[in-house]
Amino acid sequence: TTKIIIDTDPGQDDALTILLALASPEIELLGVTTVAGNVGVAQATENAIKALDLAGRPDVPVHAGAERALLRERVDATHVHGRTGFEGADLPPPRRAPSPGHAVDFIIRTVMENEPGEVTICAIGPLTNIALALAREPALRTRLRRIVTMSGAFAEVGNITPSAEFNVYVDPHAADMVLRSGVELVMAPLDLTHSLHTSAARLARFEAIGNRVGRVVAGWLRFEKRFEATKYGTDGGPLHDPNTVLWLLRPDLYRGKLVNVRVETASELTMGMTVVDWWGVTDLPTNVQFLREGDADALYDVIVELLARFKDD
Ligand code: BDR
Ligand code: CA
Repeated sequence: TTKIIIDTDPGQDDALTILLALASPEIELLGVTTVAGNVGVAQATENAIKALDLAGRPDVPVHAGAERALLRERVDATHVHGRTGFEGADLPPPRRAPSPGHAVDFIIRTVMENEPGEVTICAIGPLTNIALALAREPALRTRLRRIVTMSGAFAEVGNITPSAEFNVYVDPHAADMVLRSGVELVMAPLDLTHSLHTSAARLARFEAIGNRVGRVVAGWLRFEKRFEATKYGTDGGPLHDPNTVLWLLRPDLYRGKLVNVRVETASELTMGMTVVDWWGVTDLPTNVQFLREGDADALYDVIVELLARFKDD
């Protein structure tokens, strides 16, 4: 099995990512850590607990993390995800409080307690917690198996500014630290996520599973796409965060390239832009497995199969 920590700012697509991990026996979810992004960190933490409640998993710890980016003012994405980050489905209030202790402490403790190379982080929000953990415990660089992150873009460029993807834009300095850390990185960028549409037919398949989880996920993604599909003129919105867990399960369904990626942290105009040396025009060392394409139909089949494993109680 692959041991993972999910660092997240739920967000409907973040919650789906958590559910997919829980449904996979190949994955052991050691804990969920939260960060300010789509919504503030208190709301993100509440949402993470609600997602675990929905899955009937009170045993998975949830630790709250950073409320602010390293240097920049807060930016959220309630224009996409709604005020609570969870619009589109009605869920009962969280059944428990967050676990005691800061997310960064949990990440460090968990990685250091496990064998070297055993723990993978799926980072599906701004990278603030991960950068803080790497700064505080440099040994994480060699202890981590890898970081799989939904962030960045190459040709598909920006969704929060013309040149930046949201997770990188919210905390470009943290993203910069992670990109320079030497940890093996796998990146699911907008180029990939915008090719995997949450079309009406695909969402109908989630609903047709017939269980509660399927209905909730369909409701969530239907809300999220309300903003995005209108904007992009596609049948359905992009599918972002789930690609991290899906890549761990089925790397064969993705195509990418090992490249050098850097991030802009100086220019206000292009702040948070990921600069991807796709064609190898520099001699900078490669640091990212950059996933540019995925097999959409097969990936949706996997999602349906995993969501169908949840039984109503
Ligand atoms: C990313 O931003 C968030 O709104 C989504 O949850 C995803 O992590 C896409 O740019
Ligand atoms: Ca997210």
